[in-house]
Amino acid sequence: MGSSCCFFRWLLCSFISLLCFIEYPILVDSTNKNGLSGPVINVTKYISFPDFSSSTNPRIHHHVTLLGSAKFSNEMGTIQIPDASQTVDLRHQAGRAIYSSPIRLLDPLTQSPASFQTTFAFQFSNSTTSPSPSGPTRNNIYGGSGLTFIIVPDEFTVGRPGPWLGMLNDACDDLYKAVAIEFDTRHNPEFGDPNDNHVGINLGSIISTTTINASDVGVSLNDGSVHRAWIQYDGQRRFMDIHLGSDGGKYPSQAIFSGPLDLSPFLKEYMFVGFSASTGNMTQIHNVLSWNFTSTSQAFLRVPSTETCENKIIFGINGETTKTSRRTEPTSSSFMIFVAVVVLCVVILVNLYYNGKRSRVDQSNVVVLPVKKQRPRPPNKPRRFTISEISSATRCFSELKVVGSDSRGVSYRGTLLNGCHVNVKRFSSQFLNSRGLDRRRLVKEIGTISRVRHPNLVPIRGWCYDNREVMVVYDYLPNGSLNEWLFGVGVLPWTRRFKVVQDVAEALSFLHSKQLAHKNVKTSSVFLDVSFRAVLGDFGFVLSGSESRRFESEVSQKADVFGFGIFAMEVVAGRRRIEYSEVGEQEEMDLLEFGWRMHEREEKVKVVDRKMGAVVSWEQAVRVLEIGLLCTLNETKGRPSMDEVVGFLTMERPIPKLPPTRPVALFPYNSATDLCNGYSCPPFK
Ligand SMILES: *[C@@H]1O[C@H](CO)[C@@H](O)[C@H](O)[C@H]1NC(C)=O
Ligand SMILES: *[C@@H]1O[C@H](CO)[C@@H](O)[C@H](O)[C@H]1NC(C)=O
Repeated sequence: MGSSCCFFRWLLCSFISLLCFIEYPILVDSTNKNGLSGPVINVTKYISFPDFSSSTNPRIHHHVTLLGSAKFSNEMGTIQIPDASQTVDLRHQAGRAIYSSPIRLLDPLTQSPASFQTTFAFQFSNSTTSPSPSGPTRNNIYGGSGLTFIIVPDEFTVGRPGPWLGMLNDACDDLYKAVAIEFDTRHNPEFGDPNDNHVGINLGSIISTTTINASDVGVSLNDGSVHRAWIQYDGQRRFMDIHLGSDGGKYPSQAIFSGPLDLSPFLKEYMFVGFSASTGNMTQIHNVLSWNFTSTSQAFLRVPSTETCENKIIFGINGETTKTSRRTEPTSSSFMIFVAVVVLCVVILVNLYYNGKRSRVDQSNVVVLPVKKQRPRPPNKPRRFTISEISSATRCFSELKVVGSDSRGVSYRGTLLNGCHVNVKRFSSQFLNSRGLDRRRLVKEIGTISRVRHPNLVPIRGWCYDNREVMVVYDYLPNGSLNEWLFGVGVLPWTRRFKVVQDVAEALSFLHSKQLAHKNVKTSSVFLDVSFRAVLGDFGFVLSGSESRRFESEVSQKADVFGFGIFAMEVVAGRRRIEYSEVGEQEEMDLLEFGWRMHEREEKVKVVDRKMGAVVSWEQAVRVLEIGLLCTLNETKGRPSMDEVVGFLTMERPIPKLPPTRPVALFPYNSATDLCNGYSCPPFK
């Protein structure tokens, strides 16, 4: 009886979802021509730094991220690039100062860029402390490369020094979208520079699409005086204005650049803004004295909320029409709504009937984790969600909300009614129907895992379960999953990678100490929180694969260790375990095999990601690699426990010697089964 009740619940939820689906195209058709609907909201972001001194703004380090050679000068209250206290030789330095939070600069659906205005005062000098000389003279001409106002996709990449102005580096390929307005004081003809005193607009390339001779407006960028730039961008008209003048002087009536400019191909939805600068053979200190930035992007409410959904149902029943439906023709869609409403009423009645009956039926078959009604619930206690709650949170599982997918299902980003952002994993029916998978056990595991808390585990807010669907609701982490950072366009520095490996080891060691296991360890299960701490989420809960169940309790922790080994190697190498070689051959290059081969030849450094450049602790990287290889050993041949791995990483425990050659017949290599978390793994013995 309980299950048929659940079935009707499900039916009810499905109809609500169906209604949402039906409404969506109507709204799209019936409102404005851009294919958008609902009220348009202007979302404004305002940043203001009257100066950059930590005495007036103690939290300056939280607001502005410094990268490379850059510092805050307390004496002058400025950002200084390069940082003269860090190094004696100021030649060939590059640095960035980036506002720490991303800013929405593009609507991905309409591809319309946001509008923004920014103004900043800057000065180039040859010493770190002396204020500007009493007046610009031809004598103090310095020779650094220049400064840019920059819009970049991440806040950890630094570009090359010299003529690259810290804008791009060798690892930035065509996918690294960056926009810069350069104030260039070196003449590099090979980069298309007209002279050593120009402003340029750089779209995804260090070669400017437009250059302006600053001398034409009487400005000499490196004369030691304080200049001010105003940059205005109108996203709707795709039009840019740049003004350049002296700080404290009048706003120049004449723009140095004013013209159409489409930034949208060079923007992602969220970007970081700030400054970059560099020196080459000649040096100067680039100071930014003050900065204001305002952006306005437009948000559309595209799909009605549940309240709207429900209101419409009530309106429909009362025979009234709503604003939006009034605008539509009486089409087949309206008819479908009518049919849906009638069926919905029947479903509600039947559901009520069975609910009445259910209260008399015992609770034992209301499968797992019964909801206790009396006790008030602490706000963050994991709970059961209804399908309609999740459906409205994810806008009826809209494709726009998809953040990832794997063999187990699809992850959606969603917003609960209370405004909390969540990540919903919806297990695929293929996974749920796979042989040997017991849904009740899956839900029970979700309940068990949701009760443990650790700083390196993504908190579970709840789950949703009925006869058809199993979903898990996690906290949403704004920085996304590690694989995007690791295999994306930026370069994750080694110190951060090492921290990530440690965090994940801690999380697994904690889980194992509670006799639990993650069962889905891989880079896409690791997320980065706002402070870039790694948190492990996207639990597997059960091992997939039919035979595995019998052995599951024994093997799952060992499989976690194996998964961690591959994970650690991927982090060190900056590539996925299986990658197709670039030459177009469809030949797989197995990272695990490669790692062992390099170990046999004593050339493990060759596995370390070269994109990280020289700023790597090679010794540490090789140690992590060795730990990774150890974790892939057969269980009887020395695979460590996660507790031991934590000890290896903190150097509290010596790392056992790896066998000199790879133990033979270890693993099936190209097995596509995800018996071990998507990685192929040794057969269970
Ligand atoms: C949003 O901004 C645009 C362009 O700046 C303006 O035309 C429009 O009136 C604003 N809308 C609202 C609701 O403030
Ligand atoms: C830049 O402008 C100055 C002054 O107007 C002029 O002397 C110089 O030749 C110009 N340079 C170029 C490359 O156009």
